[in-house]
Amino acid sequence: MTTSFDDAELSFDDDTDADVAPTNEVAATRTYDELNVSSDEFWALDAPQRELVFQQLRRERPISWQRPIESAVVPDPDDTGFWAVVKHRDIIEVSQRNDVFVSGYGVMFDLLPPMFLEMAMSFLAMDNPKHDKLRKLVSAAFTPRQIRKIDADIASRAERIVAAAAQKPEIDFVADIARHLPIEMFGDMFGVPQELRATVAHAADEIVAWADPVLLAGRDAAEVQVEASLVIHDIAEQLIAERRAEPQNDLLTNLVQAEVDGERLSDFEIGAVMVLMAVAGTDTTRHTSSFTVKNLTDHPEQRAWLWEDFEGRIGLAIEEFLRHASVVLNFRRTAIAEYELAGQQILPGDKVVMMYGSGNRDEDVFDDPEAFDLTRSPNPHIAFGGGGVHFCLGNQLAKSMLRSLFRELHRQMPDFEAGEPTLMKTNFMRGVVSLPFRTNVGSR
Ligand code: HEM
Repeated sequence: MTTSFDDAELSFDDDTDADVAPTNEVAATRTYDELNVSSDEFWALDAPQRELVFQQLRRERPISWQRPIESAVVPDPDDTGFWAVVKHRDIIEVSQRNDVFVSGYGVMFDLLPPMFLEMAMSFLAMDNPKHDKLRKLVSAAFTPRQIRKIDADIASRAERIVAAAAQKPEIDFVADIARHLPIEMFGDMFGVPQELRATVAHAADEIVAWADPVLLAGRDAAEVQVEASLVIHDIAEQLIAERRAEPQNDLLTNLVQAEVDGERLSDFEIGAVMVLMAVAGTDTTRHTSSFTVKNLTDHPEQRAWLWEDFEGRIGLAIEEFLRHASVVLNFRRTAIAEYELAGQQILPGDKVVMMYGSGNRDEDVFDDPEAFDLTRSPNPHIAFGGGGVHFCLGNQLAKSMLRSLFRELHRQMPDFEAGEPTLMKTNFMRGVVSLPFRTNVGSR
C-alpha cells in the first residue's frame, strides 16, 4: 500500500547532489533486531555462515530493523539504521517499485566518501528521468545486436587467454585467466589503450577493497577509493579529448557527442560512467568465474554433466554459476513514501538494503539452495538484481564472457583443479583475491 509523500520541503527530484534524504523521527525509536547483520563480526564470517543468519531472518523476520553499519568507511552520527530485506519476493518488490524505493540518495550499504560516490556512481545512483536518459545512451553498446557483434571477439580472446595459461601446469586462476577477459572487453568498449588497461583494472580492484585490511595494507579506505577513482577519471579525460578531436565509432564517442536535456555531458559525468562500468563490468564477472571453477572442482559430477554436452547445457549452467556465486551481495534504496512491505510499515527516509545473496538462497524459491546444481530449472536468481530500472545493464555481456571462458576451459583444460581461494573481506562484493589452479591434471 502506498501513500503519497507530500512534504514540499522534502520533495524529490532526480538531482542527487541537491537533495537531502527525507527523514522521519520514528526511525530513531525503533528497536534493533537481535540478529545483527551490520557488525564487523557478521561480515567477517564466510558466506555459508552468514547464510545461517539470513536463513533465520528469512524464516522469522524477513524485514528486520538493523543498526547502522559498524566501522563505516565514513561514519554518519545521524544514521539510525536500515531495513534488511532478505527474501527473494521482497527484494523483487523493492527493486521494481522504483517510484517508492529510490536510488538518488545512495545505493551502497556501507557509508562511502561523498566525493567517491560522485566520481563513481553515475546512473546507478540516479532516478528517473535522468537515469533513463543516461542509461539509454550507454545501452547502445549493449543491444543484443551489439553483443552478437562482440561475441566473436569475446570467443577469440577467451581462446587466447586460456591457451596462454595452459602453458604452465600451475597458475593463479584470478591473475592468469579470470581477470583478463572482462578488462579486455571493457577496454575495447571505451577504447582504452592496451598499456593503460592494467592500471584501470588495478584501480577497479582498489575501489571495492574498502573492507579488506590486507588489500588496504594500512592505507585509509576513503583515500584509496578517491585516489583510485581519480586514476580512471584522468584516463577518461585524456580519451575524451582524443574523441573530441577525432570521433570514432565507439561508446566513448557516443557519450562525448550525446545531449541530455539539451546539454552535453561534462567530462566529469562521462568519467563517472567509466568508473561505474570499470567496477560493475570487470570485478563481477571475474569473481563469478573464480567461484565457479572452484565449484566445478568440488562437484565433479556437475562438471561431468556439463562437459557431456557443453553447448546444449551451458546456457542453463550459467544461471547456476551466477546464483551460487552471488557476487554482488547488496544494494540499498531509500523510501520516499510510506509503504507496507511484507507486513512491515516502511516510512519515508528509511534505508532499505536488499540482500541479494540471501534472496538467492531462499528456500521458498530454490530447493536445496546451498547445492550447486547445474540442472536447476527454473532458476529465477537475482544475481543481476530483482528487475526494475536498474537491472544489470551488462547481464548479456557477462553471460557471453562466461560462456566463452568455460567453453575454452572445457576444450583446452577439461581436468583443471582449483585449490583453496584467498577471499576478499567484504560487505558488498564477494571476491576471490587469488586461487591456485592446476591447468590440466589428467594429461600430465
Ligand atoms: C557476473 C556479472 C555481473 C553481476 C553479478 C552483476 C550484478 C549487478 C547488479 C546486482 C546490479 C544492480 C541491479 C539493481 O540495482 O537492480 C548491476 C547493475 C549494473 N551492472 Fe552489472 N553485473 C555483472 C556484470 C556486469 C557487466 C559485465 C557490466 C558492463 C560491462 C555491468 C554493468 C552494470 C551497470 C552499468 C549497472 C547499473 C544499471 C543501472 O543502474 O541502470 N554489469 N549489476
